[in-house]
Amino acid sequence: MSDTQFTIAIDGPAAAGKGTISKAVAARFGFAHLDTGLLYRAVGRRTLQGMEPIAAAQALSAEDLEQGDLRTAEIAQAASKVAVIPEVRSALVDFQRAFARRGGGAVLDGRDIGTVICPEAEVKLFVTASAEVRAERRFLELSAKGSDVTRDQVLSDVRERDARDAERSTAPMKPAEDAVLLDTSDLSIEAALAKAIEVIEKLRPAKS
Ligand code: CDP
Repeated sequence: MSDTQFTIAIDGPAAAGKGTISKAVAARFGFAHLDTGLLYRAVGRRTLQGMEPIAAAQALSAEDLEQGDLRTAEIAQAASKVAVIPEVRSALVDFQRAFARRGGGAVLDGRDIGTVICPEAEVKLFVTASAEVRAERRFLELSAKGSDVTRDQVLSDVRERDARDAERSTAPMKPAEDAVLLDTSDLSIEAALAKAIEVIEKLRPAKS
């Protein structure tokens, strides 16, 4: 593995396909991948268990990310509530930046990677889709795991979370000025991935 630092920042609203694209891009280029939403989800889960959010963020450990299912609707809401707290966000910055600059390349997906965590990232993508399309994808994902949710509930959760994420004053969700926008509303996952790879290939240093 080379020492080359190459960071790909993939941001966007809830259930836009960031996770799927990030994993596939990381596998394709042999880069490490960090789903930064899991950090906020792990802090959110701690608060559901009664812990104070800032203390939970400061005490976050690798085990918190590995135990149980963090990708539930309840934990997603809790995550977006703790994510508005500036001290929670600042407790998670160093870990994310160190991950981004590890040798061999890194893909990070979240809401503020291209704007706040890695403004110097070599590639920035903002992946989006209509709220209806995103809610349908998340509904299918949650139902497949046996979660007892309705389409309407998922759509209103997604809208509520998007509004909270975009309107908070610290590190609001928004595309970086130099981000490439990728609207996946009418794209299959294969087509969305092909577009992402096309953008990355153009910006990737030539192999020596
Ligand atoms: O998978 P999904 O897009 O639904 O959510 P996620 O990426 O797991 O993020 C869960 C929540 O964490 C988001 O709604 C945000 O409030 C928060 N988050 C954030 O504030 N900043 C990030 N870099 C990543 C997630």
